[in-house]
Amino acid sequence: MFHAFSVLPISILLLVLTLTPLGCAAGRLSQVQEQRLFDRLYQTNLRGPRWTGNDNQNTLTDLVASSMRLAGLEVETLNYTLNRWDPRWWSLTLTLMNGTSIGMPMTGYWPHSGNSGLGGVTAPLHDAGTFGLKADGTGDPSTLDLEGIPPAGAVVFFDNPSPTRNYSEPGYRLLGTSRGIDTSEIPELGNLTNPHWQSAKTLNFTALHALGVRAIISSWTHTSPANAALQFLPNDAPPGKNGVWEVPGVYVSEETGRIVRGLVGRREVESATVVLDAPSVPGARSATVVGRLRGTKGEGEGSVLLYTHSDGPSIIEENGPILLLTIAEYFAVHRPAINLDFVITTGHMSGGRLSETRWMDERPALLKEARAAVVCEHFGAREWKDQVLGEDGELVYGPTGRMEPMWTMGNDSAASALLHQLYLEAFEGTPEDVRMALLAPQTVGGVRSKWYGAGGSSVLGRSNLPTIGIIPQPDYLWTAQVDGGWSKLDLKMVVVQINTVLRLIESLDRSFLKGEL
Ligand SMILES: *[C@@H]1O[C@H](CO)[C@@H](O)[C@H](O)[C@H]1NC(C)=O
Ligand SMILES: *[C@@H]1O[C@H](CO)[C@@H](O)[C@H](O)[C@H]1NC(C)=O
Ligand SMILES: *[C@@H]1O[C@H](CO)[C@@H](O)[C@H](O)[C@H]1NC(C)=O
Ligand SMILES: *[C@@H]1O[C@H](CO)[C@@H](O)[C@H](O)[C@H]1NC(C)=O
Ligand SMILES: *[C@@H]1O[C@H](CO)[C@@H](O)[C@H](O)[C@H]1NC(C)=O
Ligand SMILES: *[C@@H]1O[C@H](CO)[C@@H](O)[C@H](O)[C@H]1NC(C)=O
Repeated sequence: MFHAFSVLPISILLLVLTLTPLGCAAGRLSQVQEQRLFDRLYQTNLRGPRWTGNDNQNTLTDLVASSMRLAGLEVETLNYTLNRWDPRWWSLTLTLMNGTSIGMPMTGYWPHSGNSGLGGVTAPLHDAGTFGLKADGTGDPSTLDLEGIPPAGAVVFFDNPSPTRNYSEPGYRLLGTSRGIDTSEIPELGNLTNPHWQSAKTLNFTALHALGVRAIISSWTHTSPANAALQFLPNDAPPGKNGVWEVPGVYVSEETGRIVRGLVGRREVESATVVLDAPSVPGARSATVVGRLRGTKGEGEGSVLLYTHSDGPSIIEENGPILLLTIAEYFAVHRPAINLDFVITTGHMSGGRLSETRWMDERPALLKEARAAVVCEHFGAREWKDQVLGEDGELVYGPTGRMEPMWTMGNDSAASALLHQLYLEAFEGTPEDVRMALLAPQTVGGVRSKWYGAGGSSVLGRSNLPTIGIIPQPDYLWTAQVDGGWSKLDLKMVVVQINTVLRLIESLDRSFLKGEL
């Protein structure tokens, strides 16, 4: 499954084909830059996930900041501390009436739900039914059946269906696609079957605790165990900077959930023990990196703002800092007239403990000077989906053989027209497997559709500043994986997508020189 090594011969081929005097052509990374990109992604992945404020995230942001300085950018870091939630060990044991204990497999934990310590929480097990959905796709806690919880409290089980999202529905308007995509295939682009990413189904654990809920076991529905594994959902800490909820929670697969429900129904369970050892680490440091590459036209003359986030569980989710560094190094050699500002935010995965839009308030000049903004994240994502196998409806998670669509958020107001046109043109000549779709979130029936993206891209997307947010959204986006996501990263596609952004910036720069931007 380690396809990525196939990039090596390609790089060598490119080396032979593209050794021009400067070693690089316009709008395209050189062989040296491609090899450096590969080295950085590989070596970053080796160190493990870059959760907000952990050592691996700080190593990445320090390396990127220092490399930007070496490339000739002016770089500063906005330093923060946060109370870092650190899930370490989790387990689930059922003790049966007949004296047997069973260790149950889990798919993961409920982020920020609580900290049981290693001893865990032991209490009778109560089946609360289904955590249902409201019409708008958010969770409806009133559907949980909490009748009959003993006064001393219970571990509560429920199954947890997720909302689906579908970009073909009226909440989104398609503004354009990459070349090679037939419009008759657009409905195909719309079936965003990912059943769970960015699930908005949160619970107020303070209220549940008051009703006797001591721990929870939540089971997935309509999702294979492999697809559900270690999904970091929902990413919501309690309000306030330092809080942790008080109800440690684990997730199990649909199949395990059925076993739990059967045992409870037959009154075979004496108690359940949920362990979620997840202390908070106070004062963890984390930084947002801001780098400026001065254009040839001069200070204060206008800029293009490129940004991303640096925290997350996989080499797909948080490869943005390496993308932006690569783009910065390219333009340090091919210097544009317009200034380029690079912002690499932190806080994206902190569940709201550290706001990722703080840089906007702390460095208002960045927004004031910007003529356009481009958000880059999750490049090179291969598409993996649950597929139904056989008549029993068994779901099997695996690669579809395609790339994840390069979803791009845009604003359909007139101010963004030029940016959109140049973005669509930048896809000329790209291979068909790029599958880019530019979508404008709409307001339907008074409800504003979500603008997905890092570091406050929705804030800019809803402002007068022309903004596009490039955000491929694979099912595994927020999952921790034993290989760090390496087997799902297509290095060749990362290069194709970066080159598209290079061409976009170059044409924005030409428009800037003509006074059109
Ligand atoms: C931010 O942290 C970095 C790394 O620890 C340090 O080098 C830098 O001086 C700090 N910046 C400020 C403004 O405190
Ligand atoms: C206890 O019950 C479980 C579940 O029904 C069963 O698998 C196990 O064999 C039983 N153990 C004993 C000792 O009866
Ligand atoms: C999307 O829907 C089409 C038919 O409308 C189907 O052929 C295709 O497999 C679906 N794609 C995914 C990823 O489910
Ligand atoms: C997405 O929405 C479109 C338009 O309503 C519909 O035709 C399509 O079947 C939907 N896809 C899925 C996977 O629900
Ligand atoms: C959660 O529930 C508690 C207790 O009912 C209440 O005081 C608090 O305001 C609720 N928090 C939120 C964010 O709704
Ligand atoms: C698009 O930008 C305008 C400002 O130019 C803003 O009023 C509008 O709400 C934005 N649209 C969306 C869907 O965010």
